[in-house]
Amino acid sequence: MRRTPGDTAWFRSARFGMFIHWGLYAMPARHEWVKTNERISEADYDRYFRHFDPDLYDPRDWARQAKAAGMRYAVLTAKHHEGFCLWDTQYTDYKSTHTPAGRDLLREYVEAFRAEGLRVGFYYSLIDWHHPDFPIDMLHPRRDDPDARRLSEGRDMRRYAQYMRDQVRELLTNYGKIDILWFDFSYGERRGEGKDAWMRGKGAADWEADALISLARSLQPEILIDNRADVEQDLWTPEQYQPLEWLRHPETGEYVTWEACQTFSGSWGYHRDESSWKSPEMLIRMLVNTVALGGNLLMNVGPTARGYFDRRAEAALRVYADWMRYNARSIYGCTMAEPELLNCLPADCRFTQSEDGTRLYLHLFAYPYAHVQLPGLAGKVEYAQFLHDGSELRFTEGHVEHFSVGAARQDGLLVIELPPVKPDVPVPVIELFLK
Ligand code: GLC
Repeated sequence: MRRTPGDTAWFRSARFGMFIHWGLYAMPARHEWVKTNERISEADYDRYFRHFDPDLYDPRDWARQAKAAGMRYAVLTAKHHEGFCLWDTQYTDYKSTHTPAGRDLLREYVEAFRAEGLRVGFYYSLIDWHHPDFPIDMLHPRRDDPDARRLSEGRDMRRYAQYMRDQVRELLTNYGKIDILWFDFSYGERRGEGKDAWMRGKGAADWEADALISLARSLQPEILIDNRADVEQDLWTPEQYQPLEWLRHPETGEYVTWEACQTFSGSWGYHRDESSWKSPEMLIRMLVNTVALGGNLLMNVGPTARGYFDRRAEAALRVYADWMRYNARSIYGCTMAEPELLNCLPADCRFTQSEDGTRLYLHLFAYPYAHVQLPGLAGKVEYAQFLHDGSELRFTEGHVEHFSVGAARQDGLLVIELPPVKPDVPVPVIELFLK
């Protein structure tokens, strides 16, 4: 396991967190990139700033729902690419205190989540489509303006890098202990094409990432930082993609601490008209798949412009709440099973294993009829039960117990008897107490 400067121990045992994308883009409600997707002018985008009034914002309710879902930490967009700040920063007027909301919304979030016993993180966008010093590039809303090049001249990236340091200092000074700082994102290798050949992507050198990160570490030594400032840190962050193996460090081959981030429906910000919401089974499987490969899942909610989680998001969170209430033991403090156990894994199943190695959890993605067979596990299991209700599951070793099967023995085979009807759980879990 690769060692990194931040405190990864709590993080790896927590396994499950809530991502929250909330900003002005909740109002157009058609993706958090709407400003650049639709090349909206400052003047037009300003209407959201003037009307931002989340009168139903109740972060205690968010925190309660996160906790009920089994999430143990949260990461909220203090600032997303649009540049709007949810806190009372002294470095810009483009902040919640100057909208009808009239207050520091980030502070309320921090207090509410902490009060529920959840760890608190900030997402901070490196990209900024509002700041006058952020040079226009191929992702910028002004990229297709006829005078884009002229508009971009004189924009001073070094001043913008200083602005980021000033803001990060505020975020990590004025809100108590912050557990995660989630920078997003770098695209330094990109170059404009054709008429845009003058455009440059942005990466570590542009952000002055080393200085930004050392500042963060000097203020909060244990903080976890992701890898998206283009500098390797504590967390590797695959997005909208489920790895098939535990991520490894590209040079040393060591396992790294990784966190998959995922959405309920595709967009990160609130999207009113999106219909690609994931099924309950898919939601549970994504969590299990992640922990089965030694990773964390950061599952996103995009609250509405009025500040609450809409019914679809609430329903998705309830899926996790219902499942985690009884099955969290196969998630918290669990990780990828030992290699020799992985060899015993039946089809359509996933293992996780407790850190101390004493319990093995078999997750049934497709419910098999009557028996589940684990080659190689005979002699290793002391007791077996369904995790959700603690009901015993009887097992035999070396053969399937039925007159019609014949007496052929299969050394090492463990056969667990299952009820013929799948229990009413999206993904049933069998808890195996190892000898
Ligand atoms: C992306 C997007 C973004 C989202 C993030 C979450 O990089 O730019 O909108 O915040 O991924 O991982």
